[in-house]
Order: sequence, then structure tokens, then C-alpha cells
Amino acid sequence: MRASFREAFGMEGQAEGRAPARVNLIGDHTDYAAGFCLPMPLRCETRVTMARAGSFEARSEGHPAASFDPSGPPRGDWTDYVAGPLAELAEAGIEVPPVAVLVASDIPQGAGISSSAALEVAVLRAALALTGTSLRDAEVARMAQAAENNYCGVNCGILDQMASAAGRPGEALLLDCRTGEGRLVAVPPSFRFRVVHCGVARRLADGAYNERRRAVEEAAALLGIAALRDAVPSDVEGLPPSVRRRARHVVTENMRVVSAVAALEAQDVAGFGRAMSESHRSLAEDYEVSAPALDRLVTTMLAEGAAGARLTGAGFGGCAVALLPPELDSDLWWKRVSADNPAAWLVAD
Ligand code: GLA
Repeated sequence: MRASFREAFGMEGQAEGRAPARVNLIGDHTDYAAGFCLPMPLRCETRVTMARAGSFEARSEGHPAASFDPSGPPRGDWTDYVAGPLAELAEAGIEVPPVAVLVASDIPQGAGISSSAALEVAVLRAALALTGTSLRDAEVARMAQAAENNYCGVNCGILDQMASAAGRPGEALLLDCRTGEGRLVAVPPSFRFRVVHCGVARRLADGAYNERRRAVEEAAALLGIAALRDAVPSDVEGLPPSVRRRARHVVTENMRVVSAVAALEAQDVAGFGRAMSESHRSLAEDYEVSAPALDRLVTTMLAEGAAGARLTGAGFGGCAVALLPPELDSDLWWKRVSADNPAAWLVAD
């Protein structure tokens, strides 16, 4: 990075920040209902180098160099994910001087493994290092989410930013989205996860995502509770049909996260896998955020011997995650899964 920075800007980098991609093992579409999620960082990551400069300028492989202004309106391109976090820092009274920013990443974009959250968190870390400020991981995550909500105009929850900021390699993060706190849970070596892209990019996701959020908020309002986190399954059945299935997904998904964590701690691969597969069914049937390519991939993953499989992240395309039992030959498994899903590709193992 040092040499690339020198080459790009003709000066030395002064501060660095890095942040990983994530896979959510279970607990999707629960974060904006104050619920539970269980993400785990992946090995691929985004690295950001910064140095004080005459104006704000950013470069990233595959993109032309661009000037940006955190105090101005968004440009509507990737630099918003650099400007937004700097704007949030200014909002919190941490003024970042004009900087040159170099971004390097091996996270595939648009695969649903949080490349944007990783960029936001890495930018915040580099800017904090540059200004000699330290913040807790949970606070970094909250600022990254605020940047995405306020500057980039994406109405996401806290899952991705928390996973990227507070996740640790080899550990799952049980995230309580009400308190914003996470608890690390060790992943034993007998738990082998595979993250596979179904070959179809996320489509029309923003409108459908916001529509799901509205249904969940309406259900909570009808039940007279702050968030669906506070509901139990019997509450849901009295709701009008327009929101009942959406609410049922959220309520049962929270319960599945709790049972999956117990299975992880008991080293119960089969139990964890069952919770994953039930989660996929709920996301596909009650929440309706799957896609034909994702359903097919999950079906093949299970038919070829996975202990559990589910779509991961927002859905509508992107990735699925499978849990392989210890005795399964993973190369052979992948050979068979990819033969039946020719557009699929292995993102992480
Ligand atoms: C996207 C959002 C997250 C979360 C997931 C679904 O990744 O950015 O906040 O809502 O979808 O679990």
C-alpha cells in the first residue's frame, strides 16, 4: 500500500485503516427490528491509506481518480462511501482535514458480503488514526451506519457495519441490535462454512428492502410494542394478513439465532444446520426475499450433503452460506454443487 500510495499521489501515506467483509450465518432482516444476528468476518478486506493534502481526492483500483467534498452533497458514486464517514466524523466534532485517499480491496462488490460497510469502517479507522482519535468498535459501526443512512441514502440496519467493525477472525459475533453490543462466540474447527454466490446479482433490492422494513414497523405499531424483538409467535397470528408473514419471519428468526448460538456452543453441527435451513425457508416463504437462483443453490447444497444452507444478507440474489458436516468431502461437494449451478462461484471458505 505504501508504494501504491506514493505512486498514486506522489507523497507518503500517513494513516491506514482496514476492515473485513462479512457473512451472516443466521439472523437476517432482524437488525431493523432490534433483534439478533450472527455474522462472522471473512478473510477478504478493504484497506484505506490517507494523507493530508490540498483537497479531498480518492482513488481506487478500477475507478478513475475523483475529487469529493464531505461537506457538500453526495456525488452518487463510490466516493460517497468515503465522503459519508468523513461527514459523520465532522458531525461528531472530529474535523478531518482535506485528505488524499487510496482504497484497495479484494472484496467482490455487489455480492452481498458488505463491501460498502467494509469501506466505510476502513475510512473511519484511517481518519481516526490520522487525527489521533480513538473510538470503540460499536461507535465506529454506528457512525458507519449513519454515513450510509444519511449520506449515501441507503436505509440499512447495523448488521454489516457492526460485523465489519467488531468481528474477529474465526469467531462469530452474536449481535444484539437493541443495545448495539456484540458477544464473540468461538467457531469450532468442526464448523466448516462455505459462502457461494448464486451468480445472480441483487436486483431491485432497495425498494423491496424498504417495503419489508415498513411492514415490520407497521406490525410493531399494531401490536403496541417498540419493535418486533418484543413479540412472541402467538402475537403474530392476530395481525392482519398484509403484515402477518413478515412479522412471523422476524419473530421466529430471532428465536433461531438464539438456538443456533446454543448449537454452536454445544458443537452441534446438525442443530446449527437445521436452524439455517429453517431460516432459509422463512426468508423465502414468509419474508419473500429469495430468488430462483438462490433457492436452487440452497436446494443443491442440502441435497449434496450440507448440514444446513440459507441465503445470507438482504437476499434478492447474491450469496448463500452452507455448513458442511465434518465427514463431507468439501471438494467433491463443491464439484457437484457447481455442476448443478453453473453460474455459481465460491466466494469464501
Ligand atoms: C442488508 C442490510 C442489513 C440487514 C441485511 C438483512 O445487508 O444492510 O442492515 O438488514 O440486509 O439482514
